[in-house]
Formats: sequence, C-alpha cells, structure tokens
Amino acid sequence: MEKIFKNSKRIHDNFYLNEKFLVKESFKFLLNEIKKNHSNKFSLLDIGCATGVFISYVNKELPNVEISGADILEELLLKAKNNCSSAKFYHIDIFDKASVEKKFGGKKFDAVILDGVHTIFDEVTPWIENLISLVSENGIIYVFGSFNESNFDVITRVKAVDSDVWEKGWNRFSLKTVQKEFEKNNFDVILKKFNLDMDIEKTEDDRRTYTHKLDDGTRITRNGLEIISTPYLIICKKIK
Ligand SMILES: C[S@@+](CC[C@H](N)C(=O)[O-])C[C@H]1O[C@@H](n2cnc3c(N)ncnc32)[C@H](O)[C@@H]1O
Repeated sequence: MEKIFKNSKRIHDNFYLNEKFLVKESFKFLLNEIKKNHSNKFSLLDIGCATGVFISYVNKELPNVEISGADILEELLLKAKNNCSSAKFYHIDIFDKASVEKKFGGKKFDAVILDGVHTIFDEVTPWIENLISLVSENGIIYVFGSFNESNFDVITRVKAVDSDVWEKGWNRFSLKTVQKEFEKNNFDVILKKFNLDMDIEKTEDDRRTYTHKLDDGTRITRNGLEIISTPYLIICKKIK
C-alpha cells in the first residue's frame, strides 16, 4: 500500500494538448470575481495554466493586465506561448519551494491563481506557502477546484484496469483544512461555491468530469471514478 502511494504519478494532463480551446463557465465565474477586486492595471499569474485558455480569456477581457502563466509540463507551456504571445511563462513545480524560488526569484503578482491543480497534492502546506510567496503585499490568491464540504481530507489513487500506474489527481481536501492553513499564515479567507448551470456530457475518458441529473432536476458533478466534485473558489487576502 505504501508503495502505491509513493510511486504514484500524475499522467493525466497531456490531454490538454488536444483539448478544445474553450472558455469554461468556471473561468467566467473566476474572472468576474477578479474584476471585482482589482483595478484595471495589475499583474496576474495563472499557475497550472495548461495551454493558456484562461490567460488568453483574461487578455481579451482586460488587455491592460500584465499576464503570466506557469506549468510543470513544458509541452503545455509551448502551446500556451502560441496561444497567448503577450504573456510571460514560467516552467515550475508549485509544490516545490526551490523550483518556485529559482524561477521567480522573489517576483510578486497582484492576482495569483491556482485552478484545478490542488487536488493533485497530498499535503496542503507546501503549495499554500509557495502561493503566499508569490503574492504582492495587497494582492489576492484565488484557489479554484473541488473540496470536501465536510471536515474530512480524502486522499485517493486510481488505476486503469490494464495499466500499472497508480494515478493521483482526485484528492478532496476539506475546505476547513485549506482555510485553516491560510488563516495560520495571517490571511483572510472567503469561500464561494460555484454552481454549474449547464450539462457536461460524459466522455470516453472516465477520469473527466460530467454532470448527472437527479430525479428532482438538480445536477451533481462527478466522474467515472465515482468521485463527486464540489467546486469552490477560495479567495485569500493578507490581514493588515
Ligand atoms: C487539471 S489541469 C487544470 C488546467 C487549467 N488550470 C484549467 O483549469 O483548465 C492541471 C494543470 O496543472 C498542471 N500541474 C500539475 N502539477 C503541477 C505542479 N506541481 N506545478 C505546476 N503545475 C502543475 C498540469 O500540467 C495542468 O496543466
């Protein structure tokens, strides 16, 4: 069992190379919140930017914003550079302090975003401390993704039947755990639930999210791993 956890990998993100260039509803929700909190000219860093869909959208909506993207996969960054040529890009591992320090060298941003990434990690402290090291004094950190509304942290590993690789990426940390970690670092935390108002079709890849309509008409967001998604935006600002 210990071996499964230690040797597990994240191998799922290359699918973004062939993904449609689609502005997701969650991107609109996120940018709407960002627009409320920042003036017209500010700097924004999207960590786990994949092929740059979100930053391209920001660039179109707010052309005065100084945009940067970061990712662990170089092939995704290459595509992101093509899609959003005005942005700066950084090849980093947001879980690794040395990587963040080396690539950013103390540079800070007014809006630091981590969208759809934190569910890969088995601990909250390293990535939260690294996000904090990247935000400017009056800046804001935005973490979007799936959380557990109950007070339990859930760590998962999944394996396709015909594969030898145990994959990571679908952890469900409690909202409370993440909130406590930011508050320990003197940050004020606001939680905003994201309700998806449309259907997402199931695809052949059982790891992808889709919506499932219940008899009363409400939807749950789930995947073929039998894991439910409860998406929240966590907005964190340093207490003065
Ligand atoms: C599920 S995708 C989310 C992409 C995009 N933010 C979105 O919401 O559509 C996760 C992204 O995080 C990147 N990633 C995974 N681990 C990372 C790490 N340790 N540091 C930085 N980026 C990472 C992946 O390469 C991938 O682009």
